[in-house]
Amino acid sequence: MITDSIKSSVQGWKAAVARLSLASVIALQALGPPAVWPQESAQPRIDEETEKQKKIYQSRGADVPDGYVINRGLLDYAGYLPSGFCDALEKLGTQDRWLDVGTGAGHAILDYYAPLNAVAPAGKCARAGGIASAVAMSIEDRRTDAWHRLAARLGERIRYVSGKALRHYSVDELGKFSIITDVYGGFSYTEDLSRFMEKVLSLLEVGGHFYTILQYVHLVTAKDSPGTEYQTELVDAAGRGEKVCSWLKKSACVQVTCESKGTWEPPTEQISIRKVCSDVSVARMKLLKFQAGNPPNRRFQLEP
Ligand SMILES: C[S@@+](CC[C@H](N)C(=O)[O-])C[C@H]1O[C@@H](n2cnc3c(N)ncnc32)[C@H](O)[C@@H]1O
Repeated sequence: MITDSIKSSVQGWKAAVARLSLASVIALQALGPPAVWPQESAQPRIDEETEKQKKIYQSRGADVPDGYVINRGLLDYAGYLPSGFCDALEKLGTQDRWLDVGTGAGHAILDYYAPLNAVAPAGKCARAGGIASAVAMSIEDRRTDAWHRLAARLGERIRYVSGKALRHYSVDELGKFSIITDVYGGFSYTEDLSRFMEKVLSLLEVGGHFYTILQYVHLVTAKDSPGTEYQTELVDAAGRGEKVCSWLKKSACVQVTCESKGTWEPPTEQISIRKVCSDVSVARMKLLKFQAGNPPNRRFQLEP
């Protein structure tokens, strides 16, 4: 459980976020430990780094590192995710299901079910309505009293799953979803990007959408300037730079749309993926480097 002092600083942070422009919000996310590769030092062993990463997930109270934010609400999601997210959420019906991968404390889902006047009424996504059911997923259990109260009220309409990464769940365990979201969750943190994407696509209904973001990446619309460093770096089989969106577009049965705002710092790709048929496949990536962090630094290479 987070302490009262952390709670109040978190509340202060949330209030500040509501007031700031999104460009500033993105800049806030960039604060904290260095977000780029230490070019000079040798890459520490991946297994040591994944152990360090587990400690970040398990951190509690004052030990939670700066920048490991677990309480973004629906208004924050509306700002970070691609433009179609709120419309899609608002259109969900009683039979639809929403999965939030890397939900932290599940605040976005709490907001979805909150009475309209309790959630930043003028904000985007405020009319979302709480009609569909939702699954919140986090490696570590960060449920709060507010979550437990809501779960007691809504019963099986909401579920919080924890204890393992997305790729270790089966479709039988979770079912299928109309919308899957990920805001600085598994897509930013996984050490197995292709299996993560395969699992997301297998959990989506045909016609469903995955909405996510990735920061410090090679944007599809931008040219590299010398010395640019990335937090998530992809290379093709020959070692040449590969953009995350070009890689995603190699997948079968998906429509990938990438947006970015020139003013956002760090450079952040907003990604929307629609599953258009059931026979999905994802071009496989192997992990070359992993350095624990929030999010971690990662380097992947396309397998031939
Ligand atoms: C920085 S928190 C973000 C929480 C929330 N989305 C927010 O914006 O407040 C990262 C979350 O991603 C989760 N996570 C990281 N890797 C994951 C994976 N491979 N599968 C599922 N969840 C993952 C963590 O357990 C944690 O809940």
